[in-house]
Amino acid sequence: MRILITAGPTREYLDDVRYLSNGSSGRMGYAIAEAAREAGWEVVLVSGPVELPAPLGCEFHQVTTTAQMKDACERLFPSCEGVIATAAVCDYRPVARVTGKMKKTGGSIVVEMIETDDVLAGLGQMKGERWVLGFALEAQNPRENALQKLRRKNCDWIILNNPSAIGSEKNSVELISSDGETVAQWAGAKTRIAASLVKWIGRNSASRNFAEEG
Ligand code: CTP
Repeated sequence: MRILITAGPTREYLDDVRYLSNGSSGRMGYAIAEAAREAGWEVVLVSGPVELPAPLGCEFHQVTTTAQMKDACERLFPSCEGVIATAAVCDYRPVARVTGKMKKTGGSIVVEMIETDDVLAGLGQMKGERWVLGFALEAQNPRENALQKLRRKNCDWIILNNPSAIGSEKNSVELISSDGETVAQWAGAKTRIAASLVKWIGRNSASRNFAEEG
């Protein structure tokens, strides 16, 4: 099995030195990449800037902005059987990037922002026979929002987690299938969740058989 994984944050630049981003450590995606390698899968990892070393044995693609992540993923996805999208992608970017460094004005400033492209939704549109697994980071109405996200991005499964996962070594997740069923739940170290997820995908991705599991 050859799979694509997105991981880490993206950055959107205001000028040549300042950017908007988030506190994603990349740990969940990197842990899944390592677990998948240990299972003998080929792993293509597209990662935003994180402090972790690139996992050994993976085909590694470093990106910075959301547009770069989208380009890399759309180029690499056709050679893979599925994608696991753990990246914490910036949803907005400044309309214009100032060349050089913005000067202080002495007053307040307003930065106009527009939505970035949705990497996962793009992969969902082009998936064909491939499977697509997204992550949903939800603070309110978690199940309802996660399921809406799954449908909007044409995912086969979505993993629901909450904002406390960002930057943490632990997570607590629910794996939801496209018919809205919770097919697995895992809590604890991200490395252990990653191993359970890889095992689950190994058993269920070919048949897309959403068997109930604790
Ligand atoms: N995602 C993506 N590209 C984006 C935004 C999100 O590929 N521009 C992916 C994430 O990697 C994740 C899933 O979509 O797998 C859901 O991300 P999340 O941040 O939970 O949701 P958003 O789509 O950003 O929606 P909202 O912020 O409104 O909850």
